[in-house]
Amino acid sequence: SQNRLLIKNGKIVNANGITDNDVFIEDGIIKQLGRNLIIPGGTRIIDARGNFVIPGGIDPHTHLELKLMGATSVDDFYQGTKAAIAGGTTMIMDFVIPDKGESLLETYQVWREKADEKVCCDYGLHVAVTWWSEETTRKEMEILCKEHGINSFKMFMAYKGALMVTDPELYNIFEVCKDVGALAMVHAENGDIIVENTKRLLANGVTGPEGHELSRPEEVEAEAVNRAAVIASQVSCPLYVVHVMSESAGNQVSRIRQLKQEGESKLIGETLACALGTTWACCTGKPWSFQAAHILSPPLRPKESTPTHLMHLLQEDGLSLVGSDNCTFTLDQKKELGTDFSKIPNGVNGVEDRMSVVWEKGVETGIIDVTRFVEITSTNAAKIFNIYPQKGCLAVGSDADIVIWNPRKTRVISAKTHHQANDFNIFEGMECHGVPEYVIVNGRVCVDEGELKAVQGFGKFVPTPTHSPYLYGSGEQDGEAELNGVPQPVEVTVDDVREKVKNM
Ligand code: URP
Ligand code: ZN
Ligand code: ZN
Ligand code: ZN
Repeated sequence: SQNRLLIKNGKIVNANGITDNDVFIEDGIIKQLGRNLIIPGGTRIIDARGNFVIPGGIDPHTHLELKLMGATSVDDFYQGTKAAIAGGTTMIMDFVIPDKGESLLETYQVWREKADEKVCCDYGLHVAVTWWSEETTRKEMEILCKEHGINSFKMFMAYKGALMVTDPELYNIFEVCKDVGALAMVHAENGDIIVENTKRLLANGVTGPEGHELSRPEEVEAEAVNRAAVIASQVSCPLYVVHVMSESAGNQVSRIRQLKQEGESKLIGETLACALGTTWACCTGKPWSFQAAHILSPPLRPKESTPTHLMHLLQEDGLSLVGSDNCTFTLDQKKELGTDFSKIPNGVNGVEDRMSVVWEKGVETGIIDVTRFVEITSTNAAKIFNIYPQKGCLAVGSDADIVIWNPRKTRVISAKTHHQANDFNIFEGMECHGVPEYVIVNGRVCVDEGELKAVQGFGKFVPTPTHSPYLYGSGEQDGEAELNGVPQPVEVTVDDVREKVKNM
């Protein structure tokens, strides 16, 4: 029967360990986990001997059919989620991005309408807050959290004039995030400096793609990480730095993360498959279109040690997870708009190849083990966005989002064979160990012995509840002493005041 499945003889990998168990799935849910299970007749049996059985990947960062810098990214919610599944990812999280002045709520609805009918796998949403209004922003954020399953808001510290918010705006938005139990996310780059550097480069005749990284070097990223963390700590808001692309920014996240005491608001760093899989150095001497295809922000770095360094930070828990930031434009789109480097639409592929790249650069090199692989590609995203253990693990009661991963097989990444809508792959030619032979999406076999059978509209929107225990601790502290609902006078010490300010 289509709705019952038994996965036998595999190595079951969760973030906390590996077990030899069989998995019985019924109606999209893991119903039993163990040996010698008693199962109903007519159940399809898949033999996973010699393979790892892992939680489906969760890509915390995609931009499907996003209008950015004058172009619309070509992977839509159908093609993007189909490509995700092909690579072993069974849930994505996309960003609702309103223009300045646009309602967050209305733009959220636009995203739901774009996505709901098209997604082949489950998806969640973050909402970008690109402007601040005393009258409406707090209210809209509250409604999104209470009624629409949003628990994370992204703010841009770059894209000046378009999406960027100022420090006081960040402060206010972070404060709302803290008040509603949401997570603040930042695109950490100093947008003011980028504008000035860009003017100077263009005035000096540097107009090609090589100007992009020069206009926003590592320290411009690292400075913004530090500034965002300082602002977040003023209002005790947990902070998630998206797309950490450089050694400097990665070190900054890791350093601040270590400084945090128990009970202080958390700092989380996400890096990207592209930063682990390639560098700007690969563009040296290459044609304009090849270079333009590698442009995203923050940029790939020229330093060839970057991928290994970032992987080590992932291993040490200085960084917590890997996204793709999949935001694909065709070479024609890049060419048409990219009259100078500052106008080349920003974005690269990754939703399909993220799992393979992390495996190849992390597990295959021996830097991380299989459990950490699961943690940084799936479990941590589920915990941070508060959908654990529904997602992110293989446990009785969890959604049957499962990948049977064959570590002995290899594949070579290529735009000729990928399932994405664009005509370039930044990992072109990379040989990867680890092939998803079966990908099970909510109990349905969507990659079957390597054959892709994704179904348009099969995925659902997954609401993400606020107050993730992973970010906010399990119990919420209450600042005031109350007796039968009446606030009581208490003797106040300096420490009390400090504590109160911390919890404000
Ligand atoms: O270059 C990028 N990263 N494009 C997508 C938008 C963003 O800033 O994440
Ligand atoms: Zn960004
Ligand atoms: Zn490359
Ligand atoms: Zn992004």
